[in-house]
Amino acid sequence: ITPQSLRIAVIPGDGIGEEVMPLGLRCLKAAAAKFGLALELTEFEFASCDYYLKHGDMMPEDWHSTLSAYDAIYFGAVGMPDIVPDHVSLWGSLLKFRRDFDQYISLRPCRLLPGIPSPLSNPGDIDFWVVRENTEGEYSSIGGKIFEGTEREVVIQETVMTRIGVDRVLNYALNLARSRPKKHLTSATKSNGISITMPYWDERLKALSAERGYDDLKIDKFHIDIFTAWIVLNPSQFDVVVGSNLFGDILSDLGPACTGTIGVAPSGNINPEGKFPSLFEPVHGSAPDICGKGIANPVGMIWAGQMMLQHFGFKDAAGAMMRAIEDVLAEGASHIITPDMGGSTGTTESLGAAIERKILGGA
Ligand code: NAI
Ligand code: MG
Repeated sequence: ITPQSLRIAVIPGDGIGEEVMPLGLRCLKAAAAKFGLALELTEFEFASCDYYLKHGDMMPEDWHSTLSAYDAIYFGAVGMPDIVPDHVSLWGSLLKFRRDFDQYISLRPCRLLPGIPSPLSNPGDIDFWVVRENTEGEYSSIGGKIFEGTEREVVIQETVMTRIGVDRVLNYALNLARSRPKKHLTSATKSNGISITMPYWDERLKALSAERGYDDLKIDKFHIDIFTAWIVLNPSQFDVVVGSNLFGDILSDLGPACTGTIGVAPSGNINPEGKFPSLFEPVHGSAPDICGKGIANPVGMIWAGQMMLQHFGFKDAAGAMMRAIEDVLAEGASHIITPDMGGSTGTTESLGAAIERKILGGA
């Protein structure tokens, strides 16, 4: 799927989502101008708590057909917990996108950027992707309680793994690994303790890699317990990491946490076939504690835009955006860098504008 032009639905959402989005858009437009891409950007005010307060719902009834017309959704953040409960705002927006647009891949880069200190004392060169199954597995609604409140109380929740669901995430991860120089895939499992679904996950990986001739890849697996330890002890050994919904959830918070501030990490919720739009967003939320101060780090938002261009195969533009982010962070000018990364007077505007200038000026 490499369209000549992209139609993008822009949803700033709440809080600092509204503050970082303008810088994300400026950087995307700079990359588009520089590399001759046609980007059609249409902004929507729904999927925000302001919209909820006006309309009594997070989104209009026809949101699905409205957004289906776009190639991708560029999303800020949602949530104003003092005014609208988080389960209402989240289930009424982001989680609907994930389910109804079958965004079955959650994708996060874990990369230690220059100028950003890692919480690990000896991080090495961290540069891997976490691929998480995003629709089934441990997060099913199958189960229940009986004899509640009595001594016979029973509570059951089932894990659901379908062949379609398991194969498609493993295939995505295999292809991603093949596209990278190290060609190395590591699968998260727990087939020693979870004796039915996890051996199935392992078997499907073995079968797919054999059937489809992935002899050029190095493929290995770790049980999730030691896997988390290795991410802290020796993260530079990983290249592409794949996990079920639960294991992927854990790894996709742990990985970026090892690369420093939450303000820089991006995330993709992807429907790889392009049957529905994919969604690209920063990992962080609406940060009510710093909202309105103009100091939110815009890098997560800008990097999410970079991932979006990369996803659609605009390699040159995506490469230039990534280099611009890295260069500005490496220079580390304290009047440009935001306070969460140790800057002094840097703001959302100063940092975003510096990256925009690099994109326009850089080769
Ligand atoms: P948060 O990510 O909004 O903030 C956590 C901490 O990190 C805060 O101290 C914040 O100031 C800081 N932080 C976050 N992004 C930053 C940035 N770009 N630059 C500098 N500092 C940054 O998470 P929190 O506080 O748990 O949630 C706040 C609201 O956001 C809630 O309503 C929550 O449900 C929502 N949320 C939404 C997400 C989304 O839209 N995908 C993801 C996470 C939370
Ligand atoms: Mg999580």
